[in-house]
Amino acid sequence: MKAVIPVAGWGTRFLPATKAMPKEMLPLVDKPVIQYIVEELLDAGIRDIVLITGRHKRAIEDHFDLNPELEAHLERSGKFELLEVVRKISRLVNPVFIRQKEQKGLGHAVLTARPALGNEPFVVALGDIVVKGANTVSRMLSIFSEYGRSVLALFEVPPDEVSKYGIAKVCPVGDGVYRIEEVVEKPSPEEAPSNLAVVGRYLFTPTILEKLEKTPPGKGGEIQLTDAIAALLEEEEVYAFKVDPGSVFDTGNKLDYLKTVITFALEREELKEELERFLRELLNRQRSIP
Ligand code: UTP
Repeated sequence: MKAVIPVAGWGTRFLPATKAMPKEMLPLVDKPVIQYIVEELLDAGIRDIVLITGRHKRAIEDHFDLNPELEAHLERSGKFELLEVVRKISRLVNPVFIRQKEQKGLGHAVLTARPALGNEPFVVALGDIVVKGANTVSRMLSIFSEYGRSVLALFEVPPDEVSKYGIAKVCPVGDGVYRIEEVVEKPSPEEAPSNLAVVGRYLFTPTILEKLEKTPPGKGGEIQLTDAIAALLEEEEVYAFKVDPGSVFDTGNKLDYLKTVITFALEREELKEELERFLRELLNRQRSIP
């Protein structure tokens, strides 16, 4: 199966950092966000990855390419461990890059992948959401092989945060699998049919592409993937499962990005102790300032 990672968005919530640099290249300690997502797909056995990029996203293409000068430099200076790290990235995947010429929204970005997809089911993984550990994509693949329909990963969010996400109403069908009854893009807490948010990991039958083609611009004037999923629901069942909210890391906004960096850094042996000490001291110092 192929996977699409849309990475063409402006990343306006991170300006000016994202003026010339893709937000998907922001580091989580020393590895860019996009590499975590590619590794998550590889863990589920997916190697054919279509990246939907834009003019200001060339760094992503370079990241997955060879860099002979850097490799020669690391070899000359005897930095063999780093050399292996750098080489491994270009061997990880054989990516296909397609340009989304105008940033017309996530739905439009997914539709842009169509020439690379054929009439086959495919996975979509958002380029700014990292899902750790839970092997979410493998679970999606196994639900697809049982039900033969599209599958979404969902997670519970606090009721006052529903307006940040696509929200789904579900009914259980057994074994931790749910059937989706309704999806709404960024509803107000009053309108929200539940507090189950779409994580940013999807497996779609190719029917979604037909629906996307007919989807008019929605919230924010963008072609919304959620609107196409709502249209898909009128024709096919769509299934879902829940992932642990603690395994979902949104790196597309400043606060959640900072929380993610700190969490990931505290998991690193070489950083943990010093960083914990620093954070404790920092908080104590701030508390003592009247
Ligand atoms: P977001 O809405 O989080 O990204 O889209 P954005 O538009 O870059 O962010 P802000 O709101 O301006 O800060 C989720 C994913 O979809 C991609 C983004 O790159 C991100 O990985 N995307 C979004 C596209 O590929 N094309 C688009 O037109 C919009």
